[in-house]
Amino acid sequence: MKYGHFDDDAREYVITRPDTPYPWINYLGCEEFFGLFSNTSGGYCFYRDARMLRLTRYRYNNVPTDFGGRYFYLKESGAASSPCCDSSSAGGDVWTPSWMPMKSKLDRYECRHGMGYSRISSARNGLAFSQVSFVPLGDNCEIHKVTLTNESNAEKNIDIFSFVEFCLWNANDDMTNFQRNFSIGEVEIEGSRIYHKTEYRERRNHYAVWAVNVPVNGFDTDRQAFLGLYNGFDSPQTVFKGHANNSVASGWAPVGSHHIKARLSPGESKTYVFVLGYCENPQDQKWETSSAGKATPGIINKKPANTLLEKYNTPEKADKALAELNTYWKNLLGKFTVDASASSRSEDKKMARMAGVWNQYQCMVTFNMSRSASYFESGIGRGMGFRDSNQDLLGFVHLVPERARSRILDIAATQFPDGSAYHQYQPLTKRGNNEVGSGFNDDPLWLICGVSAYIKETGDYSILDEKVPFDNDEKLADTMFIHLKHSFDFTVKNKGPHGLPLIGRADWNDCLNLNCFSSTPGESFQTTANFESGVAESVLIAGIFAFVGPDYVEICRRTGRNDEAAYAEKEIAKMIDIINQYGWDGNWFLRAYDAYGKKIGSKECDDGKIFIESNGFAVMAGIGIEDGRAVKALDSVKEHLESPYGIVLLQPAYKEYHLELGEVSSYPPGYKENAGIFCHNNPWVTIAETMLGRGSRAFETYAKICPAYREDDSDLRRMEPYVYAQMVAGKDAPRHGEAKNSWLTGTAAWTFVSISQYILGVRPVFDGLLVDPCIPSDMKGFTVTRHFRGADYNITVDNSAGVEKGVKSITVDGKVHEGNVLPAFGDGKIHNVIVTMGK
Ligand code: BGC
Ligand code: NOJ
Repeated sequence: MKYGHFDDDAREYVITRPDTPYPWINYLGCEEFFGLFSNTSGGYCFYRDARMLRLTRYRYNNVPTDFGGRYFYLKESGAASSPCCDSSSAGGDVWTPSWMPMKSKLDRYECRHGMGYSRISSARNGLAFSQVSFVPLGDNCEIHKVTLTNESNAEKNIDIFSFVEFCLWNANDDMTNFQRNFSIGEVEIEGSRIYHKTEYRERRNHYAVWAVNVPVNGFDTDRQAFLGLYNGFDSPQTVFKGHANNSVASGWAPVGSHHIKARLSPGESKTYVFVLGYCENPQDQKWETSSAGKATPGIINKKPANTLLEKYNTPEKADKALAELNTYWKNLLGKFTVDASASSRSEDKKMARMAGVWNQYQCMVTFNMSRSASYFESGIGRGMGFRDSNQDLLGFVHLVPERARSRILDIAATQFPDGSAYHQYQPLTKRGNNEVGSGFNDDPLWLICGVSAYIKETGDYSILDEKVPFDNDEKLADTMFIHLKHSFDFTVKNKGPHGLPLIGRADWNDCLNLNCFSSTPGESFQTTANFESGVAESVLIAGIFAFVGPDYVEICRRTGRNDEAAYAEKEIAKMIDIINQYGWDGNWFLRAYDAYGKKIGSKECDDGKIFIESNGFAVMAGIGIEDGRAVKALDSVKEHLESPYGIVLLQPAYKEYHLELGEVSSYPPGYKENAGIFCHNNPWVTIAETMLGRGSRAFETYAKICPAYREDDSDLRRMEPYVYAQMVAGKDAPRHGEAKNSWLTGTAAWTFVSISQYILGVRPVFDGLLVDPCIPSDMKGFTVTRHFRGADYNITVDNSAGVEKGVKSITVDGKVHEGNVLPAFGDGKIHNVIVTMGK
């Protein structure tokens, strides 16, 4: 069953009932201030770092789910009383127009998640409500523009109560350190502005402000005063009572609530602009100064808040900011568009809306968040991942290449001089994270992957000359090229007994912990190494090396480093030999050798006979294409790992815990890395299939994990139909097909690469824009527009020949073009390209 539909023209997903099978969220903000926003107005916001600078509180894993948000309570005086537990209710109808937290019965409900904004519209008893929420470009705040309309023929008297609950900044302390927290909360109130300034008296120089653009009739800043100690968000005593307490929080739990009385004649509308902002002062200007120029300790300097609020103090100003945001996204998504109307297959419009809009949108979100804050990532545990961020770039670099460039420099600065890297770093400090450390031996190679993607997109080789620290130490700085060299050499220098790369703590698969040997509950699989064998090897890393290595060679050649290129080529050839010798199992590629030198992912194993990752990557690297092993490997993947909802990670699932394998065997069969459909690596198979020219199969693997194709099946899938999820339960799990961990996953970037560059086949290469589609034979054609190095390419592909791969001819602006690499015109013009497929 469906819970909404796509509105393609508006680039919105329209949720038509609030009780979705899981909160279906959106992300507000695309620069430094972010909000998570669910279809019932749940979620929270933060400035730059979801752990260190969180503005509002959110209770993960709460019962019921999704409690905490930006809530608006309405009380209509004179209307029939709502049933409520509170005896002091002075009558009147109390409801929450976003459905939660009161689960109010609504006569109308709709939530539209769009590009960086969400709009909830609802109605009850002739009173219509709409809330549009977004983070404006260039400012650190959420705007919630709220409109009430009296759709009845009688006058209405409404009490509006806003409500947010402040987080005491450090989200981890906020939910653990109550002996301190309950004494430190501080606020200031000035008219319609509520300031949250906990810890400002000491080391912080930032505060939050929750304001509305009209005079208020009252306020509350103390949670207990507003709700009542034994009441939940669904029965705030203040709202039932109908007037605020003007409470001033001191310790305990500071909140922000405005009380506004509104009288609406029939047909009348009233609009309010609520702003929740983050403000910072220079350390020496923290306090308000008197007219005599003396600082008044204790009273915050409100200048930044005044400036911010002034910018959004009318509905018109808020509308203008929203219009600017819309233009921003329209231009951004204009960089790559897909039109499948010529395809003759009606289902292809699902592909077009995902590839053209939602997939790219998700790529922006993963680029910004890495794996930090979602409804499955609490925002306190994980910073920016080294491998994750490098891969996220692949789906983002065409959107804002300059941001990709500076991200690459940040990531590279956390690399160690030997080429290894901190696995994660903190977005605020940009420092490597000591708790996780290094030792994930695939990490260095992803830097080559990210930098190559950047250069192919932009043609900007100057990034190679940038001086970048090692281990965040300026004294150790060297050029970006040297960082790449050390990345490459790390694999060369860290090989095991077969000559394959040593796996370290884990490779891409965080759960293949071959040196961990943990039997202690709670010990981290990723950071424990009880048995540093110096033996366990990864065929996947070898495949990644063979895939990204040639790009390194090209980079060397194109910058005149011919000796280095020759050396690298030799090392790649050596690695491919080793894969051929020790990485092939007869019908598919092996996955690894364990700490005892035993095979993993082999027919000889009882469980875990075949894994997806090494098969995808080896074929992506071109291994076995000439001698038929690539076909065999991918056919084996299909035979053993295929399911209706995508390709599972391995088979048979591990049924018991294996000390020598680690976390992969800790999961119940069918979940996560233990034979779940770990969507991230499905596109590797898709890409590999296109390298074999099997367009139908490539598309099939694409569509199976593509959320838009499962919209009708939302009761089973449960996650948002407009975004990819990290994992879908595999065939061994009880609810095969159920997704989890939506939004923050490398699936976003890799599926975008697979569909845009390999299926539709418009791929940036060092020399220009390659066009090499690989599609189902019954897809008769499509159009892609692509912005590339300062020019626009309108590419129309004609497949009336009904082939799966092969370009017969190309014309550019009416003239025949030799080969299928389009040059980088760089002339700011639009070029019309017609590609005729055929043999
Ligand atoms: C998960 C992985 C994740 C890892 C690191 C594991 O529990 O299964 O998907 O990458 O933790 O946080
Ligand atoms: C999620 C992690 O973020 C990613 O780095 C890892 O590759 C996958 N899990 C697979 O374990």
